[in-house]
Amino acid sequence: MSLDHQQKHIPFDDYEAFAEAYVKITESNSHNAYYERPAMLSFLSNVKFKRVLDAGCAGGVYSEWLINHSADVVAIDINKKMVQLTRQRLQNRGQVHQADLNEPLDFLDDHSFDIVLSSLTLHYLKDWETVFKEFHRILLPKGLLLFSTHHPFMDFQFFEKADYFATELIEDSWQSFGNTPVRVRFYRRPLSAMTSALNNAGFVIKKIVEPRPTEECKLLYPQDYEKLSTKPWFLIILAQKEAQSQ
Ligand SMILES: C[S@@+](CC[C@H](N)C(=O)[O-])C[C@H]1O[C@@H](n2cnc3c(N)ncnc32)[C@H](O)[C@@H]1O
Repeated sequence: MSLDHQQKHIPFDDYEAFAEAYVKITESNSHNAYYERPAMLSFLSNVKFKRVLDAGCAGGVYSEWLINHSADVVAIDINKKMVQLTRQRLQNRGQVHQADLNEPLDFLDDHSFDIVLSSLTLHYLKDWETVFKEFHRILLPKGLLLFSTHHPFMDFQFFEKADYFATELIEDSWQSFGNTPVRVRFYRRPLSAMTSALNNAGFVIKKIVEPRPTEECKLLYPQDYEKLSTKPWFLIILAQKEAQSQ
């Protein structure tokens, strides 16, 4: 892990090496299809929305679900292949842009979205307060921010880190996206860093959920089910733009 990455923001795009494999495999794998997605979508079934930003859209699974549920969708991703795959999936039914969430989202108007949804993407960003301020700017009053991320306790324990309260770059190697392992880098941070970034950007937290795998997961992936039922892999947070904030 380079010291530069620990000290300042240097954008990285590790999905370049395995974008297609990621999109194909996560259509039906345990962690996404039978654990993270059902939990995220259960929130959306209970709220009204019209215009939604899918921030870190990968291959556009969420964007497609949202469009099929009558939303106007803008999808963004840093990765060129992911943008192509989402465009293919949506077939002109939404706007798809290549954009880095570390940068200002100047192409999106103030107060123009009901919901920002960001699935398993924010841990690739070191600075959450800046991106949350951008989400806050583009959301309508009382707009919702729904995101999933790595569970802070899991990353701390799994990577045997010394200081839970540090925000630090982790380098990992994933085996499940092809014949050769792929390198991924992301940031781990304590729960308090997540909640204070939200509060400092003008959000109130409505719900924090530690999801559980579905019954289908038990049938299809019993070993993963056991793991996901007993360890906190991902965390989901629903936050709302404070009523009085602009
Ligand atoms: C784990 S995938 C997201 C999964 C996706 N939401 C889904 O389930 O369909 C993470 C995505 O975040 C994107 N990403 C990573 N860093 C980003 C950044 N700085 N700005 C925008 N997208 C980013 C990656 O290219 C990748 O497509």
